[in-house]
Amino acid sequence: MARRRKSIHGEWSSRWAFILAASGSAVGLGNIWKFPYLAGDNGGGAFVLIYLISVAVVGIPIMMAEVMLGRRGRQSPINTMRTLAAEEGLSRHWKWLGGAGVAAGFLILSYYSIIAGWTLAYVFHTGSGTFTGASAEAVSTAFNDFVADPERLLAWHTIFMVMTMVVVSRGVRSGLEQAVRYLMPVLVLLLLLLVGYAMNTGFFIEGLKFLFSPDFSKITGWGILAAMGQAFFSLSLGMGAIMVYGSYLPRRASIARSSINVAIADTSVAILAGIAIFPIIFANGLNPGQGVGLVFKTLPLAFGQMPGGVFFGTLFFVLLLFAAWTSGISLVEPAVAWLVENRGMTRVKASVLVGAATWLLGLGTLFSFNIWSDYTLFGKMTFFDALDFLTANIMLPAGGLLIAVFAGWLMSRKASMQELAIGNDAGYRAWQFLVRYITPLAVIAVLLHVTGVMKWITA
Ligand code: PFF
Repeated sequence: MARRRKSIHGEWSSRWAFILAASGSAVGLGNIWKFPYLAGDNGGGAFVLIYLISVAVVGIPIMMAEVMLGRRGRQSPINTMRTLAAEEGLSRHWKWLGGAGVAAGFLILSYYSIIAGWTLAYVFHTGSGTFTGASAEAVSTAFNDFVADPERLLAWHTIFMVMTMVVVSRGVRSGLEQAVRYLMPVLVLLLLLLVGYAMNTGFFIEGLKFLFSPDFSKITGWGILAAMGQAFFSLSLGMGAIMVYGSYLPRRASIARSSINVAIADTSVAILAGIAIFPIIFANGLNPGQGVGLVFKTLPLAFGQMPGGVFFGTLFFVLLLFAAWTSGISLVEPAVAWLVENRGMTRVKASVLVGAATWLLGLGTLFSFNIWSDYTLFGKMTFFDALDFLTANIMLPAGGLLIAVFAGWLMSRKASMQELAIGNDAGYRAWQFLVRYITPLAVIAVLLHVTGVMKWITA
């Protein structure tokens, strides 16, 4: 019966279309803006290793579980969870898992849009040659001055929200596939160009050592939590974005192979970004642990020094903006799909509503970089820090944990086997072992650290 369920929103044209769209969701600011500064803040190698392990043992199994639930339910995450819970004779309250995901997507997009706005601004800053031949100090000052100006940030935030909502209101499938197919490879080529530049800085080996030689004395409980949270954030897991894309997946497409492809693409982009950025940081005597501005203070330096830098720099920020755009779209898709299904709204109306609310909440983050920078929670976290901590480090892992419990323990073996359709039994058993034991234990262990971390924050 379940196999014949159809999505009212349509279907991807093929498995590849799904892989492209899911990669579009996964590859974004998380890979190029967030991964490097988190790695920098948390001492490098040990953080990267924990991140990679999290992707393999927690990320891939949960991604498979999300795609599987999505394809079986064929609706927005809220309705998918309700339908599947009913099918298994479980409580209706499972729909709240979908609801929590919608909330997480909304919270994340509110600050994501601010950072995407920076990217948009940097298209123009780089394009006008501002950074040509500029010193590290000048580039840093330019960034600090920029984020200190709420009016400029507001303009860019607004433009990005409108861009996102225009695409969402038209339905995610048309256009998204094609755009990701052509633009993503160019983004990777530009990252390779930056890696080439990094090789000539004379600090390439230092950069690699920082990223790949783990020094566990540098990692804290906070760092471990951040590394796992980053695996969820970067792969777009734990909030239903991948589940909703999975609900448009054609019936015969292989879930395991698709998920592994997306995870490899996503992780490769993050690692490439790290390999490009850290040598530039060391060559210019910059501090790797300087937080959210890291990428905006280092890459313009490289573009300012290389031949053709204005062209490549502009193109790079255009592509980063595009990557942010395809991720932003997936952050609101669960909410919009639900409003269309349950409130009978048109896509346009649902998009305007969600967009306006997200824009408004975004102001909190926007001001946290300037006029509200002194207002901190527990004396340590700005509004942005708190939102980021709550979503990436708590909501996404907790959502992922419940998804794993549902898929691994509560859903009947027959249903998950049929949906996953992994040809060999050993493959299925490996997945089941991971979602049943390893993933939940890893997430619980790390979340328990939160208690310790919270103590530190409130101390
Ligand atoms: N994966 C995106 C990135 O790395 O930039 C961010 C993101 C998108 C997180 C969608 C969560 C999500 F549901």
